[in-house]
Amino acid sequence: QHCFTKKDDGYLYCEGLKVQEVMEAVERRPFYLYSKPQITRNVEAYKDALEGLNSIIGYAIKANNNFPILQHLKNLGCGAVLVSGNELRLAIRAGFDPTRCIFNGNGKLLDDLVLAAQEGVFVNIDSEFDLDNIVSAAKIAGKKVNVLLRINPDVDPQVHPYVATGNKNSKFGIRNEKLQWFLDAVKSYPDELKLVGAHCHLGSTITKVDIFRDAASIMVKFIDEIRAQGFDINYLNIGGGLGIDYYHTGTILPTPRDLIDTVRELVLSRNLNLIIEPGRSLIANTCCFVNRVTGVKTNGTKNFIVIDGSMAELIRPSLYDAYQHIELVSPTPQDSAVSTFDVVGPVCESADFLGKNRDLPSPAKAHSSIFFGSGLVVHDAGAYCMSMASTYNLKMRPPEYWVDEDGSVAKIRHGETFEDHMRYFEGL
Ligand code: LLP
Repeated sequence: QHCFTKKDDGYLYCEGLKVQEVMEAVERRPFYLYSKPQITRNVEAYKDALEGLNSIIGYAIKANNNFPILQHLKNLGCGAVLVSGNELRLAIRAGFDPTRCIFNGNGKLLDDLVLAAQEGVFVNIDSEFDLDNIVSAAKIAGKKVNVLLRINPDVDPQVHPYVATGNKNSKFGIRNEKLQWFLDAVKSYPDELKLVGAHCHLGSTITKVDIFRDAASIMVKFIDEIRAQGFDINYLNIGGGLGIDYYHTGTILPTPRDLIDTVRELVLSRNLNLIIEPGRSLIANTCCFVNRVTGVKTNGTKNFIVIDGSMAELIRPSLYDAYQHIELVSPTPQDSAVSTFDVVGPVCESADFLGKNRDLPSPAKAHSSIFFGSGLVVHDAGAYCMSMASTYNLKMRPPEYWVDEDGSVAKIRHGETFEDHMRYFEGL
């Protein structure tokens, strides 16, 4: 069941609320609109799938760092996956238990590692220099750090190259042939490092769970090898990466249960705790990016719907050629036909599009004002949209709202203003 659905009256609803009405009520467009109950349902789906396993759901904060959303995820029992000191600070402020947090990354900074060590966060070792930095951080903090080795299982996640990480050419993880070097290094720092597990992350938008099973079987072999040397390691972290149904074509995609079920036996056979790091599959489908149509135009060969949102607020189509479903929030007017449009923003470059070649209702007359002011949404905008937004062309970052359990709408982030921008120059 999808939280954003068109009902028989032709309007788009979010949890029983007409998006059109929300649009009329909020003072600024574009904006992001989330369903809080959908966030809950997504977490519950993972929790149900994990029944019977010792596990941590480490929500990948990079996907969406909205503060009330983080607090909600924490309240639902999630841990957090961090890739910077600031994400760690944010997780702590939001109340996450640091001992259920995992610090990832190929370029972790010493200061950030010191904070992680002080807080008791799990840290993934990514390289030789990273290990050195973790040891230094442990000494500075006077704490022993629980570490996992980020191993590169070298499986093809079958996704866009920019979001593939667990393959040979990746900048992430240790060189597997150097495993012994890392184990010896860890052994030589008994006061600084405690090796507790192995980690991998294959990539993002993965739609075949076999890929996770292949990786998990490779990972448990590594774990067997590491245990054979006397290390008492108990955590398998299989990363995040489960994809979602961006195309809205009704194709049945693997669910969290399908994902967990493919690795369950392996995890139980070695008596491991399972860590997973979902971002997208927890948050992407809980949100629409809501825009207003500024105008409709044609250049003779192509038709364009120009909206107020752009690549500044939502860059995935421009950056990865990603498809996100687009539709109008109100019923199709009776006098309209269907035409093919590029849905574009006002930003000054041709990379600025939210969708290409989309069949959408078109005005019967060339300059009809019928769509001007209409609402248009970009679906599945909860993950890697607001968190990747920029202020390019001084399009300030938009506000965010959610629909609460009781059907009320609340603002969960202020929109950035021009005055916010000027503040960076005060007192110079
Ligand atoms: N764990 C690690 C180590 C990661 O690098 C990532 C994402 C995740 C977990 C969460 O993956 P998820 O479950 O969200 O797929 N900006 C791109 C996605 C980049 C993903 C980066 N790493 C996009 O918009 O598609």
